[in-house]
Amino acid sequence: MSTVALDVAAVRARFSALRTPTALFDGPGGTQVPDEVIDAISTYLRESNANVSGPYESSRRTEALVEEARATAGRFLGCSPDEVAFGANMSTLNFALTRTAGRKWRAGDEILVTKLDHDANVSPWLELAHDRDLVVRFVDINDDTTLDLDDLERQLSDRTRVVAFPLASNAVGTKTDAKRIVELARAAGALSWADAVHYGPHGPIDAAELGVDVLICSPYKFFGPHLGLAYGRRELLESWRPYKVRPAANEPLGHRFETGTLPHELLAGFVAAVGYIESIGWDAIQAHERELGERFLAGLPESCTLYGLPTMDGRVATFAFNVDGHGARETATKLGDRGFAVWQGNYYAMEVMQRLGLPEGAVRAGIVHYNTADEVDRLLAELETL
Ligand SMILES: Cc1ncc(COP(=O)(O)O)c(C=O)c1O
Repeated sequence: MSTVALDVAAVRARFSALRTPTALFDGPGGTQVPDEVIDAISTYLRESNANVSGPYESSRRTEALVEEARATAGRFLGCSPDEVAFGANMSTLNFALTRTAGRKWRAGDEILVTKLDHDANVSPWLELAHDRDLVVRFVDINDDTTLDLDDLERQLSDRTRVVAFPLASNAVGTKTDAKRIVELARAAGALSWADAVHYGPHGPIDAAELGVDVLICSPYKFFGPHLGLAYGRRELLESWRPYKVRPAANEPLGHRFETGTLPHELLAGFVAAVGYIESIGWDAIQAHERELGERFLAGLPESCTLYGLPTMDGRVATFAFNVDGHGARETATKLGDRGFAVWQGNYYAMEVMQRLGLPEGAVRAGIVHYNTADEVDRLLAELETL
């Protein structure tokens, strides 16, 4: 157990958006941004707004900002600055990159996705498979919502081109053994393709350490603006033929996979968001989330059924549950009316909900480091009354 304490009041003072009576358990749909992120966005627009490559000062400042954003992304993801590409969001990047990866694949080639995945790491493969006659296979989960690695091994073959998987489920919060998945994929000669969107606000990512080939996340899930961010291993990016306009530069490497003008103001916000996280530190963030997660799990009323791991081991503090006798929508709406922002449904994690036999989905309460013990206690007390 980490001894680093998080001063949650000091954290919250940095977010104007948290000056609300509503308890925001909707981080999995997108977190709030600290004021320093908002300031960075507006400062860029006030002082440096320009396109790149112009022979004048604001354009040069914009180029410096793009370079800083790449360096920041490299630091955040544990990779080189030229191995990153920015895009509109994870889904858009994933449709583009899957299509790029598959340009030379042949009919009958296989792709493994998992039943823990958000559909943004499933449908791009299904569409590619549709167009190029590929086969998509689904790796099952165990009843406790952990990924069934035996099933993954069984389904790997010399036809497998890629294993796509999440670092953590945006529905039930389960983490995956990414290193093991990467090893298994590599041993089979397949690429490993990680969706880090849900894990993003919960812990450090080190692409080099994981050995993963592609990893995509969304800064708006980790205290930044609405933006997507991808990592691709250098040799892989070098081997791909990008979909790009001819005059656009081929360097830095990741830029080949970015189409058109980047949202410069959001890159400024992204740099500030990573600076914000670094100013707090993952140890403090993780210790606080774990404490609140344990508090939630210990206090969940008998009337609630939790889907997923019953302790904080092997999961992040994202909880899917239903209340006896109440539909997920009804529960979430009641909670919304009473000052709690929670989600309901399948949150685009269709497969896991189907696997759990939940056609109507479940209520989802997501905890991030700016949540408080008082908010958790109030939510638990409210659930008792339903
Ligand atoms: C695990 C996961 N993957 C992918 C996505 C899609 O991300 P984006 O909205 O950036 O396309 C989400 C969004 O909720 C998500 O939770």
